[in-house]
Amino acid sequence: MSEIETVLNAYAGRFNRDLAAYFPSSDAPEHRAAKAMAYSLLNGGKRLRPFLLHETAALFGVAYDKAFPVAASLEMLHTYSLIHDDLPAMDNDDLRRGRPTCHKAFDEATAILAGDGLLTYAFEVLNTADIPAAQKVELTLLLSRAAGAFDGMIAGQVLDLYTDTHHEFANPEEVIKHTEALKTGCLLRYPCEAGAVLGGAGEDERQILIRFSRNLGIAFQITDDVLDVEGDEKLVGKTLQKDKKQHKLNFVSIYGVERAKKIASDLINEAEELLSAFNSRAERLKMLSRYFLTRNH
Ligand code: IPE
Ligand code: IPE
Ligand code: MG
Ligand code: MG
Ligand code: MG
Repeated sequence: MSEIETVLNAYAGRFNRDLAAYFPSSDAPEHRAAKAMAYSLLNGGKRLRPFLLHETAALFGVAYDKAFPVAASLEMLHTYSLIHDDLPAMDNDDLRRGRPTCHKAFDEATAILAGDGLLTYAFEVLNTADIPAAQKVELTLLLSRAAGAFDGMIAGQVLDLYTDTHHEFANPEEVIKHTEALKTGCLLRYPCEAGAVLGGAGEDERQILIRFSRNLGIAFQITDDVLDVEGDEKLVGKTLQKDKKQHKLNFVSIYGVERAKKIASDLINEAEELLSAFNSRAERLKMLSRYFLTRNH
């Protein structure tokens, strides 16, 4: 196991224990969606977004406990996006995080409600954080925009579905970049910006982190698309070789695996250079960004 994998595993262990505290177990019929929320949220997941948030906040000396509800709420929102992404009306997937998808383990209506529930709970939890009210307002705005249908994740998911059936673009690379910046990039930009907010970073530092996150977002999605082609299903925990069947437009489909990997690697080199502004404080973040290329799940 590499150094970053060891660090991530230790982080995920602590994060998962704390996250479980938000889900008292209940078999009451009205809590079926809550049960499905816990099923999807508490079992598996690399926890890369909360880790990124904690590490960015740590650049400015923010402690784990202070940032935890903010990180937890992001993971809830991300998991909602996965539950809905897997639905028959979207990517129609049976496997997620190594287990049956939410609509397979429960049923479609419950999975829709579990997604809604995680999205809503995310904002409740975010607002329980022990941070100044002004930070809560700013983070609430940033998170809702990052997840939204205008310039956020939902807009990206709409474009992703649109490009399944529309392929005649003058500049497909621009369309892909735009799609990925929205569907994946926004929820990777948010933790970097949230870390800056929590840490009271200056505007220059915040802008560096936003530029860093842009590269990270595209590289992250390229690796996801490469894993779909050449990953090991047992490790990745989702059904692979699906993007081609569903005519997904991405860097791999237009340039092939090798060129797509080179694009991702150039983006990560640039991302690392941006972090030089934070000197040795950013060593862990640099390791994490490299992991975005080398991860096998
Ligand atoms: C999967 O995200 C969805 C994409 C944006 C490609 P992750 O690969 O971070 O999924 P989990 O959280 O580890 O399951
Ligand atoms: C999903 O992208 C992005 C979001 C859920 C916002 P993908 O459809 O490529 O993700 P996987 O491969 O199903 O995890
Ligand atoms: Mg999808
Ligand atoms: Mg999918
Ligand atoms: Mg994918």
